[in-house]
Amino acid sequence: MRRCQLVLAILAATVSSHAAKQHLAKQCFKGGVCYQLNIPAETASSGEGHIYFQISGPTSYSWIGLGQGSQMAGSNIFVIYSDGSGNVTLSARRGEGHFEPEHDTSANVSLLEGSGISNGRMVANVLCRNCQQWQGGRADFTSMQGAWIHASRPGRSLRTMERDANLEQHEDNGAFVWDYGSAKGGGNVNPFVSRGEEPIVSTPPPDPAESDAEIVADTKVVSDALMTAHGTLAAITFLVLLPVGAMILRVPGIDIWIHAGIQIFNYCCFIAAAGLGIYMAIQERLSNHHHPLIGMVLLGVLFFQPVFGYLHHRAYKSTQRRTLVSYIHVWVGRLAILLGMINGGLGIQLAGDVRRGYLVAYSVVAAIMGIVFLCSVVYWELSARKSSQSTEQGGGKSTSW
Ligand code: HEM
Ligand code: HEM
Ligand code: HEM
Repeated sequence: MRRCQLVLAILAATVSSHAAKQHLAKQCFKGGVCYQLNIPAETASSGEGHIYFQISGPTSYSWIGLGQGSQMAGSNIFVIYSDGSGNVTLSARRGEGHFEPEHDTSANVSLLEGSGISNGRMVANVLCRNCQQWQGGRADFTSMQGAWIHASRPGRSLRTMERDANLEQHEDNGAFVWDYGSAKGGGNVNPFVSRGEEPIVSTPPPDPAESDAEIVADTKVVSDALMTAHGTLAAITFLVLLPVGAMILRVPGIDIWIHAGIQIFNYCCFIAAAGLGIYMAIQERLSNHHHPLIGMVLLGVLFFQPVFGYLHHRAYKSTQRRTLVSYIHVWVGRLAILLGMINGGLGIQLAGDVRRGYLVAYSVVAAIMGIVFLCSVVYWELSARKSSQSTEQGGGKSTSW
């Protein structure tokens, strides 16, 4: 008797999962980003009720979005991204125009069993309880088709559970019509998992012509260790090494070549940090962000510092005065150090919510070092002015720099 019941249960599960499989409309786009939709029979007949959809794509994507509507404005948008602990965050948003959609707390959505990250793919199986209505109008699930939109952004993993995380603009987007005919049917259950079977995850089409030839899916997002190495090295260089190398000049009796040697070494540390930064920026498609851009400017500007420093030194030896090149060396150096300190804060912000905790600690150290450095600059400029006045009057000490 028990065996008979078991056989019947297995049969029922097989039949229902088979049925569910048949009630899934599927769409795949560039880069292996796929979506599936199921409208349970009850919702299809009454036009009200639950719908189920799946959003899936490679973990090399920063976020993947699906929306009900024919354009951003007025759409119910659902975005998924990595939550930083092996699962996905589902963020329901309100599309209002060509700008980042805002988190929408009125959407009644839940992540279902089978959601998560495995084998390099993020999967969100979603139940939406009030998708028949949204800010832009009403969805008609009794009809045979519906207008939807999709968008995605390859790049750095967001690794956050915050539903209102900042999103970078999409690289791919489009509108499509979903054939509700193939999506309708089945009971009001999660159609993407069936007991005893593999989860039903939409896979990209095997035909390379249909998917993105670049296969962003294979791009590995940079590791935390790399980011930490870059951040730590760059921060130590700009918060400690470079200001100390500049301030050391103001220690009485110090030789100019000590400053020169230390600063060139410090610049080499920055080259190493910048190398890692450039690699990450390319991998994560962040090259047009202000943090890497300011970093590149600093890298270029500081390259000329040893030349200007040496030219100043040569001119000063014969004239005993600062020349134009001296002002360039001194002021470009000072401003670059301060800008680098600020840029570190932008780097932490760019690194996302997981690194946000470092921002306060970094800002405190940067503020202390920045103030100490500025005080040393002001002190030196005032005493240099006094000393040049007394030199003109026949007193005062001058350096041999
Ligand atoms: C930071 C977030 C976002 C920004 C700044 C943004 C910005 C824009 C801009 C400027 C356009 C017009 C130019 C173009 O086609 O590229 C656009 C179009 C579009 N976006 Fe977004 N978007 C964002 C998020 C999303 C999301 C999450 C979706 C999800 C489905 C989406 C779907 C679309 C679609 C389908 C279009 C073409 C249709 C239309 O013009 O509305 N966008 N977006
Ligand atoms: C990447 C390398 C370098 C950086 C970042 C750098 C940075 C700086 C900075 C920020 C100052 C101003 C210090 C202050 O505010 O009190 C300064 C002053 C100075 N640097 Fe450099 N420096 C570098 C290399 C050199 C080299 C190679 C030389 C000489 C051969 C040199 C010679 C000087 C001299 C003589 C001063 C004092 C100028 C004055 O007070 O009129 N520097 N440097
Ligand atoms: C060529 C110059 C630079 C480039 C291309 C660059 C690029 C980057 C990139 C791509 C990230 C990671 C963002 C992410 O994965 O989301 C980052 C993070 C960071 N950068 Fe830079 N950066 C540069 C210069 C600097 C400078 C001058 C500083 C000064 C302190 C700095 C400090 C940081 C910090 C603190 C982080 C956060 C690291 C972490 O959270 O572990 N970077 N940078």
